[in-house]
Amino acid sequence: MGRSYVLAGNVAIESMGAKTFGFAGGREDTFKPDQAVDWGPEDEWEASERWDEDGSLQGDLGATVMGLIYVNPEGPDGNPDPEASAENIRESFSRMAMNDEETAALIAGGHTFGKVHGAADPDEHVGPEPEAAPIENQGLGWESDYGSGKGKDTITSGIEGPWTSAPTEWDTGYLDNLLDYEWAAEKGPGGGWRWVPLDEDLRTAAPDVEGDDTVTPMMLTTDIALKRDPDYREIVERYQDNPMEFGINFARAWYKLTHRDMGPPERFLGPEVPDEEMIWQDPLPNTDYELISDEDAAELKNDILATDLSVQQLVKTAWASASTYRDSDKRGGANGARVRLEPQRSWAVNEPEKLTAALHTLEEVQEEFNASRSDDVRVSLADIIVLGGHAAVEQAAADAGYDIEVPFEPGRVDATAKQTDAESFEALRPKADGFRNYIGDDVDAAKVDVVEELLVDKAELLDLSASEMTVLVGGLRSLGATHGDSDLGVFTDEPGTLTNDFFQNLLTMDIDWEQSDEDDHIYIARDHETGEVEWQGTRFDLVFGANSRLRAIGDVYAADNAEEKFVHDFVDAWSRVMTLDRFDLE
Ligand code: HEM
Repeated sequence: MGRSYVLAGNVAIESMGAKTFGFAGGREDTFKPDQAVDWGPEDEWEASERWDEDGSLQGDLGATVMGLIYVNPEGPDGNPDPEASAENIRESFSRMAMNDEETAALIAGGHTFGKVHGAADPDEHVGPEPEAAPIENQGLGWESDYGSGKGKDTITSGIEGPWTSAPTEWDTGYLDNLLDYEWAAEKGPGGGWRWVPLDEDLRTAAPDVEGDDTVTPMMLTTDIALKRDPDYREIVERYQDNPMEFGINFARAWYKLTHRDMGPPERFLGPEVPDEEMIWQDPLPNTDYELISDEDAAELKNDILATDLSVQQLVKTAWASASTYRDSDKRGGANGARVRLEPQRSWAVNEPEKLTAALHTLEEVQEEFNASRSDDVRVSLADIIVLGGHAAVEQAAADAGYDIEVPFEPGRVDATAKQTDAESFEALRPKADGFRNYIGDDVDAAKVDVVEELLVDKAELLDLSASEMTVLVGGLRSLGATHGDSDLGVFTDEPGTLTNDFFQNLLTMDIDWEQSDEDDHIYIARDHETGEVEWQGTRFDLVFGANSRLRAIGDVYAADNAEEKFVHDFVDAWSRVMTLDRFDLE
């Protein structure tokens, strides 16, 4: 279905005479709502309580209003204020990685077609949405008792009118109407704010949806925003003068809008996929060398362990590289070694100085290996980073008495800065990473409920199960792989060894936890008998004792005879994270 929706959109656009840029299949249908999506703080449709005091949109939300895509068409809070609306549009579209040129092309191009529907007041005539509608509506909702409920009587947004004189044709009618005429705000028959032309001639310029009557073209407040905002205005004026450029930019931006969450090119299927490589696909170079063998990998792991890099540095570097992956739009991950490029290498979560030093050493190992080969075998830094993590995990398991090999598939490549849209990568920056026990300055730790949710959110983006999240946190803590090498959550006397100490020491009844006086996010464990301080942890640690589901999983790993299972499960989860982005292997 996902594929059909987009294909139907392309067919409609082509049928109206516009060119499309391409089409790819490969989307999947879900069969239940995704519970993990953060839709915003409001519990009422069309409410908007998602603004910080400084006026910026909170968190990672895309839309400015609950339940609307993008922004309120009538203007912020329903006020027909085009200048303020332009700011909303810029914020919302930039969160979809759209710049001003793309945004203007999309809105102007999209609204070259069709009309808005508000023949009468929705509150008076339109019934409940599908989920709330009675069973006899059979999954359909929004039943309207206004006239026929269809055609010219249709009510959806509650705003009424077409944008152009030829609403089913691709032309510059929208741009001409917008720029060549003056518009004034009024409330239409559905009660919604719209803008109508002051010019008498234009008032009868559009055809009605049925019959021979004419109707008045209109603009939304968000459309008028494009002529009032000076930057958008410059662009729409240029598009009006250069229809060819307008058409191309619309086609390309439409392709981006409808394919941007599909991930790398390997996932784009079908004969209409354009050859051109898109920067928003986070392109990767092709390999022009042979990949390393199992023996080479073993040799490289030895070379890496012989450097002065610690288990912690190796694990954290590999984690920093791979854990940017997000399953929601298949971006990020270890392939590309973008952790060595801006913006990732400067992210506070990655401890930039230590990361740079670790990468430098790993680069030396890579260069030495590549220089030593007289055949065509070469290794990428992206593979070396992952191999370094594997070597450290194997070493830590060996120190705990387990001889284990983490599965490894070579073939990752190193992307260049030119192949990286640094600005859009900034959206992948973790504000917190509970796996490294990191919480960024821009997270308000006082909002206590939120803190552990950030860990679960990160785990969800990494497509991890509750058990995988649990074993990874416990393992990373026993390795001592915490942000700033802090002791927080490192409930073991032998950090760097892959033991189940984290769970044993967290879930024992021999200690009592209390909140620190100095920092709400930090908790102190005291010996139940002596009162002596044993450990310090954060909410990211304590949630594995406090949450019943996580505690049940933690209890399994805390058992005296569970260490081997713990080590194996950790290795499985670790290698899954390292390969989340390997669509090239599928
Ligand atoms: C600021 C961003 C946008 C806002 C606020 C907005 C708002 C709206 C509203 C309120 C409607 C009327 C719905 C109804 O009453 O049936 C509408 C219709 C439409 N929009 Fe947008 N829109 C935006 C961006 C876009 C984009 C990016 C596209 C496509 C590239 C697009 C394409 C369309 C089309 C084709 C229709 C007409 C549908 C029909 O005739 O039934 N819009 N838009």
